[in-house]
Amino acid sequence: MDPSTEIVRLVVNGQSREVGVPTHFTLLEALRYVLGLTGTKQGCDKGDCGACTVIVDGEPVLACLTPVWEAEGREVTTVEGLAGPEGIHALQDCFDLHGAAQCGFCTPGILCSAAALLAGNPSPTREEIREAIAGNLCRCTGYAKIYDAVEAAALRTGGPQG
Ligand code: FES
Ligand code: FES
Repeated sequence: MDPSTEIVRLVVNGQSREVGVPTHFTLLEALRYVLGLTGTKQGCDKGDCGACTVIVDGEPVLACLTPVWEAEGREVTTVEGLAGPEGIHALQDCFDLHGAAQCGFCTPGILCSAAALLAGNPSPTREEIREAIAGNLCRCTGYAKIYDAVEAAALRTGGPQG
């Protein structure tokens, strides 16, 4: 094997995957350019925009700043993995119902940040929702519909907190 490449074992959206990648690759590059999971977006590529947000072991992570080897053996969930056998994630349905979906660049990262929030805190306050997606930048929205959608999804899957 080329010494500048390595084999990394990841668990992506519930499936074990072995990827041969250049040693300098980020998790974002491995997901998009090796595994073909292009739902995770390459925006600023320097940690500013949140478009590359994925969930690693339950936590939201900026894939553009994560060396792929750091994800070795860990559970990675991308926007493609949010839907389950029973259908789309409650967040995806509520984004649709509340008109919260923005463009294809920012929405996947917003969904992943929100999904990680609800997985760890099923009944977040509005402020907690605001904090959870504060790193997902979109200058095209006032965010109100996004907060509404996350609250609606929480009500469906967790319950109210006030
Ligand atoms: S692409 Fe990772 S934060 Fe912008
Ligand atoms: S960046 Fe996606 S709609 Fe603004």
